[in-house]
Amino acid sequence: MPGTELFGEEERKEVMDVLSTGALFRYGHDDLRKGMWKTKELEAEAKKFTGASHVHAISSGTAAVSCVMAAAGLGYGDEVIVPPFTFIASIEAVLFAGALPVFAEIDENLCLSAEGIRKAVTPKTKAVLLVHMCGAAADMDAILAVCKEHNLILVEDAGQALGATYKGKHVGLFGVAGGISLDFFKLTTAGEGGLFITNSEEAYKIADCFSDHGHNHEGANRGMENHPILGLNYRLGELNAAVGVAQMRKADYIRTQNRKHHSYLQQRLSEISEITFRPVPDPSGDSGTFLNFFLPDKDTAQKVVKQFAEDGIAGANYWFLNNYHFINQWDHLKNLKAAGPLAINKLGAPQDYHNLQLPKSQEVVSRLISFGIRCTWTDEQVAALADKMIASIQKVVKNLHHA
Ligand SMILES: Cc1ncc(COP(=O)(O)O)c(C=O)c1O
Repeated sequence: MPGTELFGEEERKEVMDVLSTGALFRYGHDDLRKGMWKTKELEAEAKKFTGASHVHAISSGTAAVSCVMAAAGLGYGDEVIVPPFTFIASIEAVLFAGALPVFAEIDENLCLSAEGIRKAVTPKTKAVLLVHMCGAAADMDAILAVCKEHNLILVEDAGQALGATYKGKHVGLFGVAGGISLDFFKLTTAGEGGLFITNSEEAYKIADCFSDHGHNHEGANRGMENHPILGLNYRLGELNAAVGVAQMRKADYIRTQNRKHHSYLQQRLSEISEITFRPVPDPSGDSGTFLNFFLPDKDTAQKVVKQFAEDGIAGANYWFLNNYHFINQWDHLKNLKAAGPLAINKLGAPQDYHNLQLPKSQEVVSRLISFGIRCTWTDEQVAALADKMIASIQKVVKNLHHA
């Protein structure tokens, strides 16, 4: 999914702007900066691209999810429903806020399902942290309905889903707020960086303060600003923001290319009857960063991944065995290992993390291959890739029938 494919003159120009002034800090120093405010520009570009009424750019996607937790008022002892398939950052943001993760089932859509949430709700459940995985949205109508039914706060981690929409609305804007990552591997990158997006002015103000030691950013004297709340330093530096601005201006082009290649590959691979694709409730809103497809079972999926490697096909992600995206490998979480005690160590985990019963999630992720789409592919390259992928998969599925 990387915007890094298109790193070039535009990014260099923005960075040189900052280096020419030495104004590396996002706030104040008006005399130094010759009118250049890269973090603010990034926020303005991201507002245009996502349609959010408020965007606050910060130091990482992880920090963005922490700000989302803060903005929703979630903290000590609050039980928050989370998916077992996500990047561990989502779970860490819950834990480091002092809250308690409760794992629920995902389905073939790769996100928490409404049914999974419903089954995990207890009288203690306060919120749902919905993660829009692999570049596309969850089933929002159903999820909003279950949140309403049980009076749950909805917060979103759209870390991997910049550019994904559901019925025209950008992911991250369905609940209180959403976090987006601009790390090195995303649709667009700032090197390191993140976006907090919301349509709530109140939520925005909390994130704005929380991410800068509680500063309210009112008045022209930073040293005399008020601090309505305590916070931390999750500020984005102007150098990273400079890269982020240039990249954000390319987001629409990258998404258009990704979508074109994504639908072409999907259409070609659909000739293999053993393959099914991730159901996306609003396919027109898929950001096209991954082609997510399923093989009939775990063994076949693993054989296909191996066959791709043998045939020199790069780009297949098999999250089931990957150390940070699926719960099976999260021993540090299961053993509640943190540098110092967290709320969960004192309060106890709300579930036995060593014995979670999530058969649907296990089955879905074990059959899943997420194939990374590159925006710089030419039509000829993507056609040749489709030929190679089909040939590789056919080798495996043919053997399957003979076995
Ligand atoms: C779903 C999700 N949430 C949060 C993050 C964290 O983002 P960052 O690496 O910018 O901290 C990621 C990163 O990959 C992610 O995939």
